[in-house]
Amino acid sequence: MIERLNKIKSLAVAQIVEVNDFDSLNELKVRTLGRKGEITMLLRGLKDLNGQERIEAGRAANEIKDNLEKLIDAKTAELKARELEHKLKEERIDISLPGLPLPLGGKHPITMIADEIKNIFIGLGFSIAEGPEIESDYYNFEALNMPRNHPARDMQDTFYINEEMLLRTHTSPVQVRTMEKMAPQIPVKIIVPGKVYRKDDDATHSPMFNQVEGLLIDKNITFANLKGTLMLFAQRIFGEEVRVRYRPSFFPFTEPSAEMDISCVQCQGKGCRMCSHTGWLEILGAGMVNPRVLQYGGYDPEKVTGFAFGMGIERIAMLKYGINDLRLFFDNDKRFLKQF
Ligand code: DAH
Repeated sequence: MIERLNKIKSLAVAQIVEVNDFDSLNELKVRTLGRKGEITMLLRGLKDLNGQERIEAGRAANEIKDNLEKLIDAKTAELKARELEHKLKEERIDISLPGLPLPLGGKHPITMIADEIKNIFIGLGFSIAEGPEIESDYYNFEALNMPRNHPARDMQDTFYINEEMLLRTHTSPVQVRTMEKMAPQIPVKIIVPGKVYRKDDDATHSPMFNQVEGLLIDKNITFANLKGTLMLFAQRIFGEEVRVRYRPSFFPFTEPSAEMDISCVQCQGKGCRMCSHTGWLEILGAGMVNPRVLQYGGYDPEKVTGFAFGMGIERIAMLKYGINDLRLFFDNDKRFLKQF
């Protein structure tokens, strides 16, 4: 029996040396030392041996089991170490590789145009004023010389909170708000960028849109100052070669009032679909501040005069970038927004 035990042992030792992975090692362990393994099976024959032989064979079997277990443990440790070493080699991090770029947001085209407009006027010495989007009937209409039931209110139907409060239909209410704060100081020289709201919804009108208002009050301000300022503005936004023209118009808060057109940015004035074959594109309303508005603001129309203007930012952006549907600005489609 001892001889057979030794045979099993030397075979197992040789195999342990050879084995190279956990699965084979485990299989070998079960096969040799397991409950139904070779040694256990062999020891079943112990009962047929006489006393002395049985003791010696039992001792030899235990010794061999011990030895083999130690060898298997050592091999397990060796395989583990080898695996770790391999892992470390494979997973080495190359810190010299460039990182993955993080997707960065960009400015919305409306913000870009608003910034451009602001910068032009800041360069001319204007400062930025703001006012509430939920506005009173008084500032939105009344103080702009549009009393209740004035027909000019019809063009600016909007969302009413109650009889007195509404979503402002234009940035013009900030004219009187600013005058009230500043009177009688001169000059008043502000632009007012901001959101406005109307009961409109089609390809060129949205219920919410952005405007920039302008107001300049000082001694001896004339229509010539208005023209010079807005000419320079048009050239900065649309390029040096742009031409402008003024058409008489009506706003209750300016007198006289005008609308300013620029030569068509698409056909340079020859006539095309964009300008309905007129060669001109309307871009803003303007005029000399109505004396009554100056009075509402606390200024004496005998002492000072002023000009004002108002434009839609979306409209400028559409003309500048050749966009034909205003709603694209508000759809949040990245394919559209990424182009700017
Ligand atoms: N508030 C006018 C509108 O929304 C635009 C406007 C026209 C503003 C003439 C002005 C101005 O300051 O003088 O239709």
